[in-house]
Amino acid sequence: MPTAENERPMRIGEDFKVLLAADDIATRVRELGQAITRDYEGKELTLVAVLKGSFLFMADLARAIDLPLTCEFLGLSSYGSRRESSGIVKITQDLTQPVKGRHVLVVEDIIDTGLTISYLISNLRTRLPESVRIAALLYKPDNNKIPCKIDYLGFTIPNKFVVGYGLDLDGCYRNLPFIGVKSPDDAA
Ligand code: PRP
Repeated sequence: MPTAENERPMRIGEDFKVLLAADDIATRVRELGQAITRDYEGKELTLVAVLKGSFLFMADLARAIDLPLTCEFLGLSSYGSRRESSGIVKITQDLTQPVKGRHVLVVEDIIDTGLTISYLISNLRTRLPESVRIAALLYKPDNNKIPCKIDYLGFTIPNKFVVGYGLDLDGCYRNLPFIGVKSPDDAA
């Protein structure tokens, strides 16, 4: 169970070791928001969050960006075992507004193999945006199969299965305020 002062004790998080504490995530997300604000000054931005895992990162990042922006949500699902992406990606919920001519910033919770983001970027480019960049909270280099340029990266993490702050295990644990690994077997 997390014991740091900045962690809210949660019974559902008892089985997880904290990899990234809530305060550290909040600090990094604010820094990313400031960088994005500087880089897109004078432009209008469309954030495209990849559901479901990005919903908390999107909510916090959007509030850390001091620019006019619109928020879109794209449902993507990759099939395979519960812990590994298969590379077969399906759109389960499409954008509600066209992104043609817009500056699009994709908001991803994690880039692991890179298969999902690779599919997504190719798909978005067919919609003729003015620009497309990527903001990812987490990146696992050890498991990456398709390299991509991450313009705004929160943290590089080891090749462990992580949950919390939007990321799930069989649909659960997305509401943990920290990012954790199953302990003790999967502990970093
Ligand atoms: C997760 C995550 C990314 C993708 C990254 O989504 O949110 O979209 O996997 O993995 P990759 O780089 O190996 O493709 P998931 O399919 O688990 O759906 P979810 O966001 O609804 O949990």
